[in-house]
Amino acid sequence: MAMVRCRMAIALCLLFIVVALFTNYAGAAQMPILNLIPVPASVQQGLERLRIDAGFSVALKGYAEPRLERAVERFREQLSRQTGIPMAAVSSAPGATLVIETDHASKPVQEVGEDESYVLEVTPAGAKLTAPTPLGAMHGLQTVLQLVSVSPEGFAAPAVTIHDSPRFPWRGLMIDSGRHFMPIAVIKRNMDGLEAVKMNVFHWHLSENQGFRVESEKFPKLHEMGSDGLFYTQQEVRDVIAYARDRGIRVVPEFDIPGHSTAWFVGYPELASGVGPYQIERRWGVFDPAMDPTRESTYKFLDEFIGEMVQLFPDQFFHVGGDEVNGKEWNANPKIQDFMRSHGLKDNQALQAYFNKRLQPIVSKHGKSMIGWDEVLDPTLPKDITIQSWRGADSLADAAKLGYRGILSNGWYLDLGWSAARHYAIDPFGENTAALSAEEKARVLGGESCMWAEYVDEENVDSRIWPRNAAIAERLWSPAETRDTSEMYRRLDVISNRLGWLGLTHKTYFGPMLQRIAGPATPEQITALRTLADVVEPVKNYTREETADAEPTSAAPLNRLVDAVPLESDEGRRFNELVDRYVKSSCRDSGSATKLRSHLALWQSNDALFQTLTQTSFLAKQVATRSQDLSAVGSVGLAALDSLAKGQRVADGWKAQQLAVVAEAEKPKTQLLLIPVSGIRRLVEAAASENGCSPGS
Ligand code: ACM
Repeated sequence: MAMVRCRMAIALCLLFIVVALFTNYAGAAQMPILNLIPVPASVQQGLERLRIDAGFSVALKGYAEPRLERAVERFREQLSRQTGIPMAAVSSAPGATLVIETDHASKPVQEVGEDESYVLEVTPAGAKLTAPTPLGAMHGLQTVLQLVSVSPEGFAAPAVTIHDSPRFPWRGLMIDSGRHFMPIAVIKRNMDGLEAVKMNVFHWHLSENQGFRVESEKFPKLHEMGSDGLFYTQQEVRDVIAYARDRGIRVVPEFDIPGHSTAWFVGYPELASGVGPYQIERRWGVFDPAMDPTRESTYKFLDEFIGEMVQLFPDQFFHVGGDEVNGKEWNANPKIQDFMRSHGLKDNQALQAYFNKRLQPIVSKHGKSMIGWDEVLDPTLPKDITIQSWRGADSLADAAKLGYRGILSNGWYLDLGWSAARHYAIDPFGENTAALSAEEKARVLGGESCMWAEYVDEENVDSRIWPRNAAIAERLWSPAETRDTSEMYRRLDVISNRLGWLGLTHKTYFGPMLQRIAGPATPEQITALRTLADVVEPVKNYTREETADAEPTSAAPLNRLVDAVPLESDEGRRFNELVDRYVKSSCRDSGSATKLRSHLALWQSNDALFQTLTQTSFLAKQVATRSQDLSAVGSVGLAALDSLAKGQRVADGWKAQQLAVVAEAEKPKTQLLLIPVSGIRRLVEAAASENGCSPGS
C-alpha cells in the first residue's frame, strides 16, 4: 500500500485504500490455516489450493533409490487413508501432481548432521519437492501429508513455498524396553510416529535390572536367564533397524553399565561386584548390583559383547548408560576397596571414571563413539564421548564447555506426567546453555524425550508418548522463536488424530481400558466413568511410588484408572482456561459462564451413577472418592457462579467453607489428581473478592 502514489483526489485515494484493505482482509480470512508440526523453518503462503483427488500422481526425478520408492509408496497409502480416495501407484509420466527431485544418495548409515533439508512448492497446478538427498525428501513428504486437508471444494493442499531444515541434528525418543518389554509392533508404530514429526533418533534402552532384551549368541545366558523369555532376536533387531532407516531414523542402542545391570548377573554373576546369586529385579528403583570395574575379565567380557553388538547396530553411537551407580556393592567388596587404594581412586566417582576410561577405548576400537548419561562426564575422559543430560541442564553446559558433545533430556522425561506446554517450554539453549559461545553451542546436538517404562506396557505406552512428544519434536526442529503454546496445542490435536491413521494407539487404547474397569456396565455407567476419567491425571514426578498402597513391582497389572487416563487431561485444561477467560472478563462473559455451568452441573450429578459401578467393579471402587470429590467441587463451582450472577456479597464464612471442599479435592487420591480443581478455586476466590469478581484474584 505504501507504494501506491496517490495522484487522485484525496477522497478517491482514501476510497482506494479502504477497498484495498478490505480485499486484503477478505483474502486473509480465507487463507487456509496450516496445521504443520513441527513448524518449518520458513513458509510463504498463498491463497489458492492444489486439489487432491483420484487423479493424484507422483513422479521421481534425479537420484532415486529403493528406500525413497518405498517412502513414496507409504506416502500414497497414507494419502489414501487420509482422504478415503484410492490413489494410483507412482507414475513417472510427465505432468504428475507431485514431482520429487533429489540429487544424490544419503549416507549408507545415517549420520548426525547429515543434510535433512528440503524445499516444497505447492501451487494450484502441482507440487514440487526438491531435496539434496532422499532423507530431506522423506521429511518433505510428511509435510505434504500434513498440508492435505478437507476443504469446501474437496481435499486440497494450500499453496505454499517451504524452505525447511532442522534446528538441531539430534532429535530423538528413548523407549525403555528393559522394565516392561515392548513388543516389536510397539517399536515400529512409534517409529511411524517419529517419522511423522521428523524425529530422527530412536534410542533403544535394551538392558535394565528388570530385563536384558537382546539375543546374544556369544553370551546366551544374558537373554536366556535375564529376560523371562522376553527379548528381541537378532533378526528382529535387524528388521527394526531397516524399518527405522526407511523412515530416516537412526537406532542408538543402550546397554546400561556398570549399574542398572542386575539382569546381566543372573547368567553371569562373575561380572558383578557382589557375591550373588542374582535374580531378575521385580521392583522399581535404584539397586546395589554393579559390574566389578577392577577385574580384567569384566573388560574382556565387554569387549567381546560390544564386538558382537556392533555387528548388529550400525549407528556411529553406542550408549553405555552409566547412570545411578549407588556404589554399595563397591563399598562392600574388600578387593575393590584395595584396588581403589592401590590405584589412588579416592571415591566411587573416581572408580566409575576409571571404568569409563577402560570402556571408551573398547567402544572406540569397535568403531563406535561412546555416549552416556551425565554421570559419565569427567574432564579426564577423551573428548569423543557424548553426554546425555538428564539430572539438570547444567551438565549439558558443562559438557559443552569442556569440549564434549551433548544432548538434552532433562525436562523431556515423558513419564513425569508433565503437560505438553511444560515440555514445550524447555530448550537445549535454555537458561544454562544460553550463555555458551557459538563454538560451545555447536556441541549441543539436540535432545531426546525419554519414555521410562515402570508404569507403561504395550497397551498404554503410546498414550504416554503421544501427542506430547510432537511438542518436543517441534522444539528440536523448528526455529527457536516458535513458542506460542495455545497455537501448539491447536496443532497437537490435529497431529494426534493423524497419528491414529498411522496405527498409533494413543487414542484407541482408552475405550477398552475403561470398558475393562466398568465390566458389563450400561452405556450410562460407562459415560459416568468417562466423565470422571476425562478430568483426572496420574500424580506427577515419581510420586506414584510414594503414594502406592503396596510396593509396586513389574508383576503388578497396569489396569487401574491411573494407568488408563492420559497424562494430560485436555478437558481439565480447557475448563481451567475457560475459567481464566471468564474471570479476566470481570465475570461478565455470559457465554463462558454458560459453558462453565454445564461442565459443573455434569460433574455435580455424575457421582450418583458412578457409585452404582463401584458395587460391581473393584477397579471403579478404588476411585470412588475421586468421583465424590468431583461432585463436591461441581457444587462449589455452581455456588460460586450463582453468587457471581447475583452480584451479591457472599455470606461470612462462605469462602472458607468452599475452600475446605476444594482443598480436600486438591489432594492426590488413588494416585489421581482432579484437574479442574484449580479453576474452581479461582471461581470461589473471584466470588468472594471485594468487588464481586476480581480478575487479579
Ligand atoms: C536415568 O533416568 N537414570 C537416566
